[in-house]
Amino acid sequence: MTPSLLIGNWKSNTTFAEAESLIDAAKAAQNATGAEVWVGVTPPFPWLMALRERIQDSNVWIGAQNCSATDMGAYTGEVTASMLKECATFIIVGHSERRAYYGETDEVVREKVARVLEQDLHAVLCVGEVLAQREAGEAEAVVKSQLLAALEGYPEDRLYRLVIAYEPVWAIGTGVAATADDAEEMCAFIRGVLDKRFGDSNHIIIQYGGSANEKNAAELLTKPHVGGLLIGGASLKPEAFAAMIQAAADVAE
Ligand code: PGA
Repeated sequence: MTPSLLIGNWKSNTTFAEAESLIDAAKAAQNATGAEVWVGVTPPFPWLMALRERIQDSNVWIGAQNCSATDMGAYTGEVTASMLKECATFIIVGHSERRAYYGETDEVVREKVARVLEQDLHAVLCVGEVLAQREAGEAEAVVKSQLLAALEGYPEDRLYRLVIAYEPVWAIGTGVAATADDAEEMCAFIRGVLDKRFGDSNHIIIQYGGSANEKNAAELLTKPHVGGLLIGGASLKPEAFAAMIQAAADVAE
């Protein structure tokens, strides 16, 4: 069975000193687990190169929270996937905060997925509905349309480079996570969409994200279609993140 994949999304948080101690704590937590759990963290861009050195002796992966939809060129302020390849193994694409605050459309998200793949990196593609869409019974349709739009033209021989993070927008940063049953239902639905799109999508990990924490991690991870967690706030608390890594190990055993 594929190990659970836990990724800490630090967002625009941490001083460099805080980032160093969070990385050290994540390394220690991962080393302490008896079972295999895959662990990644996404520090802010300026910390990536230095933190890459700091994880050399560990199995913790470093990723980026975003990348440019273009490759190198006259695009002031943009950070390209080709640059990130020097220091990251995966890139989060299409996070709902990028979609909501920076106007990222499905087309932009698709371009970013393409840039990530061109560099042989892994893409963590975020999808999820807002509350009004869930209340209107449109959650599945929204998620399906985000998935199919972002994965248009996605090459079938690269499925192992793809992670889907189901993050209902109403659960992000609110303290109100989806119930384990609702997370399971949507992750199973996503699996169905991916199977239909690609034939066999077994190589693609599907995570849940949105107020995942040390209290609900075990229950979420026990669900058969929840293959991991994308963790915001709780990943900034070393004890909470460590407890979630341990919960994933316990579920795997
Ligand atoms: P949260 O964030 O865990 O703080 O809800 C999750 C995310 O935005 O990826």
